[in-house]
Amino acid sequence: METLDAIRLRCSLKTKLSEREVPPDAVEAVLRAACLAPSARNSQPWRFVVVRGREAIDALAAAALPEASAVIRRAPVIVVACALPAVGVTVGDRPYFLYDVGSAVQNLLLAATDRGLATHLIASFDEAAVKRVLRIPDDVRVVVLTPLAWPDAASYQEAAAERLSQRTRLPFEEVVFEGFWGGA
Ligand SMILES: Cc1cc2nc3c(=O)[nH]c(=O)nc-3n(C[C@H](O)[C@H](O)[C@H](O)COP(=O)(O)O)c2cc1C
Repeated sequence: METLDAIRLRCSLKTKLSEREVPPDAVEAVLRAACLAPSARNSQPWRFVVVRGREAIDALAAAALPEASAVIRRAPVIVVACALPAVGVTVGDRPYFLYDVGSAVQNLLLAATDRGLATHLIASFDEAAVKRVLRIPDDVRVVVLTPLAWPDAASYQEAAAERLSQRTRLPFEEVVFEGFWGGA
């Protein structure tokens, strides 16, 4: 798939997840793409916990807020993206570790889309509870998690069609300025 096609096709598909097994090599491929992201001073402050298996996923779902727990329970694999603030770079008052993890996660989402795998970022969880369940140390932040699942449809494109048809984005002119802030 072309890069721009993956960018256009990627969407959040929590209502279209199938429970069908996702092979370990597909999971590894998207995580390797995540690890190719840029990071401040190449600090690579991301860490990922891959959660599979009914029992582990149910325990993680219990640490999520109610609206997210059903989604987590349905997925065969959950990737939990974490950040190491102490490893990441801070410039003045700007901590870049969240930015770096976001870049890595975006790579992961695009690589998953390229392989026809559905994703949906979720931030609705109790961080302390997720840490307890996954034995994540205190100095690590849990940033976001996503299911990795085959879409419950004949193809990724078919699963995404409805969501993409309803996609809303701010008008381009509202977010891109020419030359100076507010410039047309
Ligand atoms: C950091 C982050 C956290 C998110 N957390 C949630 C969440 O907790 N629950 C949810 O349903 N969607 C969540 N989303 C998905 C967004 O709602 C979604 O990306 C946005 O509506 C745009 O839709 P699209 O991804 O289909 O383009 C999250 C997205 C991001 C980037």
